[in-house]
Amino acid sequence: MKALLCKAFGPAQSLVVEQVADLQPKRNEVVIEVHSASVNFPDTLIIEGKYQFKPPFPFSPGGEAAGLITAVGEGVSALRPGDRVMALTGWGSFAEQVAVAAYNVLPVPPAMAFDDAAAFAMTYGTSMHALKQRAELKAGETLLVLGAAGGVGLAAVEIGKAMGARVIAAASSTAKLEAAKAAGADELIDYTTGNLKEQVLKLTGGQGADVIYDPVGGDAFDAAIRCIAWNGRLLVIGFASGRIPQLPANLALLKGAAVVGVFWGAFAQRQPHDNAANFRQLFGWYEEGRLRPHISGRYSLEDAPQAIQALADRQVVGKLVVQVRQA
Ligand SMILES: NC(=O)c1ccc[n+]([C@@H]2O[C@H](COP(=O)([O-])OP(=O)(O)OC[C@H]3O[C@@H](n4cnc5c(N)ncnc54)[C@H](OP(=O)(O)O)[C@@H]3O)[C@@H](O)[C@H]2O)c1
Repeated sequence: MKALLCKAFGPAQSLVVEQVADLQPKRNEVVIEVHSASVNFPDTLIIEGKYQFKPPFPFSPGGEAAGLITAVGEGVSALRPGDRVMALTGWGSFAEQVAVAAYNVLPVPPAMAFDDAAAFAMTYGTSMHALKQRAELKAGETLLVLGAAGGVGLAAVEIGKAMGARVIAAASSTAKLEAAKAAGADELIDYTTGNLKEQVLKLTGGQGADVIYDPVGGDAFDAAIRCIAWNGRLLVIGFASGRIPQLPANLALLKGAAVVGVFWGAFAQRQPHDNAANFRQLFGWYEEGRLRPHISGRYSLEDAPQAIQALADRQVVGKLVVQVRQA
């Protein structure tokens, strides 16, 4: 099979496409014939050796895929060859085949194309868990989403609207804010040209945002914690800006606010039934047309390094999909 390979840590341009041996499933694994895969922020880190996991060389990046199961390992009973599935793979999805533990696989709803399926689980799974279990977002509350046109950010905008919140989207360009508006955002803030704290306070009559969704960290976190409402919840999703912020704990005290960690992968493993319930709701909303992955670019396997680089360069709106096999 063909695979995009990382043979040494380095930039996306150093990745190469080569023929490698076909995969066999180990116990409790399935092998998927990959049709589509999508790019997520960890792909930009794993190839540079900056991610929490460092697979042995050579490895294929790509944490998320959709396709058909071709083989199941011993111990797998709920999945069969021919099943249409989406999977969280950690790495390995930018290849014609990927092997993955059966518990990381979800069935693809009949009406969902492989491109949408490849762009679905990571972003919507994370944002649903964050807003439902961690923030307990209520209808009528104000949700501020930072990095609102990124992968997880746009999903948070859509889910926030589906849960009945008033959504303020913050992002770094007009094009990004337009995408957040199309996803349902009620208010828009360009945090590269305006003062985030002042604009949020203005839009909320001085009260601040009830829930803040932060996949960016750095300066955005520093400003956001200063415009959180009484009893607010600030969701720590990630640090795409590259800086892990420090919290002045007095700010949490003064607002009776909570800074809440979110680790969707661990939640999915530790609370599989709650995660499955989240996905039933997400698939229902998808079928009603309330969620729609915003795929702004499609790439071949050979061009996948350009997609990874674009994400690292902060140039992407929504999701980029690598079409490993044309339908
Ligand atoms: N906690 C969890 O369970 C979990 C799950 C999934 C992802 N994550 C994390 O969430 C973060 C976002 O992931 P994603 O896949 O949605 O990424 P993404 O699509 O690249 O979105 C990240 C956003 O961050 C903003 N950003 C600010 N400074 C940046 C910089 N220097 N470089 C790149 N982006 C920058 C960009 O928006 P603007 O240009 O508008 O500022 C960008 O749209 C990552 O840190 C990822 O590891 C966490």
